[in-house]
Amino acid sequence: MKLPYAEPYKIKMVESIKRSTKEQRKKWIKKAHYNLFNLTSEKVFIDLLTDSGTGAMSDQQWAAMMTGDESYAGSQSYLKLKKVIKKITGYTYFLPTHQGRAAENVLFSVLVKEGNLVPGNSHFDTTKGHIEFRKATAVDCTIDEAFNTTIHHPFKGNIDLEKLEKVFTENPKDKIPFVILTITCNSSGGQPVSMKNIKAVSKLCKSYDIPLFFDSARFAENAYFIKTREKGYMDTSIKEIAKEFFSYGDGMTMSAKKDGLVNMGGFIALNSEKIYKEASVFNIMYEGFLTYGGMNGRDMAALAVGLDEATEFNYLESRIEQVAYLGKKLTEYGVPVLQPFGGHAIFIDANKFVPTIPRNEYRAQALAIELYIIGGIRGVEIGTVLADRDPFTRKNRYPELELVRLAIPRRTYSLNHMKYIASVLKNIYDTRQKAKTGYIIVDEAPIMRHFTVKFKKIKKSTRK
Ligand code: F0G
Repeated sequence: MKLPYAEPYKIKMVESIKRSTKEQRKKWIKKAHYNLFNLTSEKVFIDLLTDSGTGAMSDQQWAAMMTGDESYAGSQSYLKLKKVIKKITGYTYFLPTHQGRAAENVLFSVLVKEGNLVPGNSHFDTTKGHIEFRKATAVDCTIDEAFNTTIHHPFKGNIDLEKLEKVFTENPKDKIPFVILTITCNSSGGQPVSMKNIKAVSKLCKSYDIPLFFDSARFAENAYFIKTREKGYMDTSIKEIAKEFFSYGDGMTMSAKKDGLVNMGGFIALNSEKIYKEASVFNIMYEGFLTYGGMNGRDMAALAVGLDEATEFNYLESRIEQVAYLGKKLTEYGVPVLQPFGGHAIFIDANKFVPTIPRNEYRAQALAIELYIIGGIRGVEIGTVLADRDPFTRKNRYPELELVRLAIPRRTYSLNHMKYIASVLKNIYDTRQKAKTGYIIVDEAPIMRHFTVKFKKIKKSTRK
C-alpha cells in the first residue's frame, strides 16, 4: 500500500476560533455592507480570505525572532537574509520591503513610465494597480486554456509565446520596460508556469532585449509543480528547481507573506547594479533604509528561516496535497471548481454554480456571501468586483472567470476543517436553484474597490 502524505510537523500551540449561528452571521454581513473585508475576525469561523501572512510560523522561526538584530543600519538579520536569498534565487542585489506590493511600488517607480506596456501572465491586482497607477497598461498574455475551468492543463499559468511576441513586434521596444511572470499565477487560479515556458519566455525576452522579472510570491509552490508534473525534474530538489528558473530572469519581486512563511515582509532581488541603485532611492523614501526597508530585524530573521523551510519537499507536499484534498472532496460533491486545483487555493466557478444570478449582480460575490452565512467561512470574490472598472471608460470590466477563491493558510487548518468547508459548499450547491438575485454596488473607491466597496442586496432581479 502506498503510504499517504502526512504533515512533517506536529502542533505545539493552538488558537481558538469562534463558531456562530446563521442568524448572527446574516446580521453581521448586512452591517458589513456585504463586504467580507469589513468583518472582524471573531465573526469568522474558517478564514480563507487569503493565504497571505496568515500561516503558522515554525518553532525555528520563532526562535530566530529572538535573534533579530534591530540595528537601523547594517543589521545582522539583514545579512543573514541576504545570504539565504542569494542561495535560493542566485540574485546578487536585494532590497527588503514591508510586503509584496511595496516591492512592486519601488521597482516600478524605476521602470514603469506613462504609456508603457507590461506584458505578463494575468498580473495580480496590486501589480496591475501599480502599473495602471503610472498610466501604463498590463497586457495579459496567458494561454487561452487558463480561461476554461474544466481543461486539465498542467501549467495553466504559462505565457502564450505568440501573444507575447505580438506585443513585442507591434510596439516600440522602449515602451516595454520588462515582462512580469507570476509564479504561481494567482489570478488564473494558483496555476504554475512550466520550466519549459519560463525558458522560452526568457529566450524571447532576450532576443528582443527586454528584461524578465518574476512575481515570486508562490515560487516554491511553482517549483513543487515543476518537480511533480514536468518531465525531467522528478529527481531535482525544490531548491535546485527554484535556482534554475530564477537564473532565466533578471530579478524578482516577492511577497514574503506567502512562500516566505512569515506574517509580514517582502523584497526585491535582482542582478542589475544600475536598477538596484535607482531602486535604493525609492526604497529609502517609501520603505526605510536599505538594510531594513520596512521590516523589523526579527522579521528578517524569521524570513531567512521561512524561505529555507518553504523550499523543502515534505512541507510543500503536505501543503499542496491539503489544498488538493479540499478540491477532490468538492469535485466528488459535484461542485464546479477550477481544474487542476491551485497550489494555494481552490477556486469555485460561480458562472457554473449560480448562472441564475445575472453577472451585473456580482454572482461570485453573492456566492461568497452565502458561504459566509451558511458556514461562517470567509472566501473572496475573484470576478467582476475585483476586475474593477476600466480606468479610461469607467465601465465595469467583466473578466472571463467569476470565481470564489478559498485560499488555504499555510500549516494552519486541519483536514477536518477541509471536510467541513466541503460539506457547507455541498449544502449550498444542493439548493442553488433558489438563488436568483445578487447585489448592487452603493459605494466604491476609484481604484482597488474590492477592499472597501459597499453592496446592497437586491430583491428584484435586474435581468431583462
Ligand atoms: N503578487 C501576487 C501573485 C500576490 O498574490 C500578491 C498578494 C502580491 C503580489 C502582493 O503582495 O500582499 O504582500 O503586498 N496576494 C494576496 C492574496 C493579497 O490574497 O492573494 P502583498
